[in-house]
Amino acid sequence: MKLKVDNIAFRYAEEPLFQGLSFNVAAGEFVSILGPSGCGKSTILNLLAGILAPEGGSMAVDGVPIRGMSSHFAYMPQNDLLFPWKTIMQNVCLHGRLRGNEKAARERALKLFPLFGLASYENAWPSDLSGGMRQRAAFLRTALCDADILLLDEPFGALDVISRGDMQDWLVSMKQHLGRTCLLVTHDIDEAIFLSDRILVLGGRPASIRSEYRVTEANRTRDWLYAQGELRHRLHDSIRGLETKKC
Ligand SMILES: Nc1ncnc2c1ncn2[C@@H]1O[C@H](COP(=O)(O)OP(=O)(O)O)[C@@H](O)[C@H]1O
Ligand SMILES: [Mg+2]
Repeated sequence: MKLKVDNIAFRYAEEPLFQGLSFNVAAGEFVSILGPSGCGKSTILNLLAGILAPEGGSMAVDGVPIRGMSSHFAYMPQNDLLFPWKTIMQNVCLHGRLRGNEKAARERALKLFPLFGLASYENAWPSDLSGGMRQRAAFLRTALCDADILLLDEPFGALDVISRGDMQDWLVSMKQHLGRTCLLVTHDIDEAIFLSDRILVLGGRPASIRSEYRVTEANRTRDWLYAQGELRHRLHDSIRGLETKKC
């Protein structure tokens, strides 16, 4: 198992947010955690990224326990912002620069600009780009981190519905190329169906994984997505606490 989250307990104040939160992610798997706003999705990513510390339980990558910040994760937080005073290239190479290998990061980034739909925008400013392009730049910055697990917090949440659809199409086409384990959190049922190998529904207080759905379709198209009425319905019921079935 690539990532193992076992029996995590966490609270911000009196009331526990998690008490016995457990889930696994296999190597190369794309897993979404789906749940309504406020159920604890971002908190899970902050715990994994080492920004928050659990009260109890354990987390392990490749069987090795992790504590605090870990180089296994590249984290794209909710509302990830590009620095407006830096060019797109400078923004995406930020991690490389912090590690003192900016030149190597620039060379790698340059090759990836076309794939991220950013060709010839290397020296543009964030304000020159559309919302979708800015998100792809933030995504490229995350992808350039040498980490084996990507943590994505509602990466397209701030986009209008058309741009969000375009970005989801793009990410589906990119999954193979990324070749990495991805944990995405979202409140968007269609986004979870479209992108995931497996969907974990998070809910309740204390919150836990209520149900789990595998999505095996290899050819993800919009037409396929629109035909997933039954799965959408079951996910919706599960989020509302009407169903706790695993499949
Ligand atoms: N820094 C904090 N201090 C206290 N409560 C917080 C803090 N951050 C989040 N919360 C609360 O914890 C719960 C889960 O938050 P969060 O993980 O951001 O949910 P989600 O990402 O699913 O919307 C919410 O009720 C939120 O109000
Ligand atoms: Mg959140």
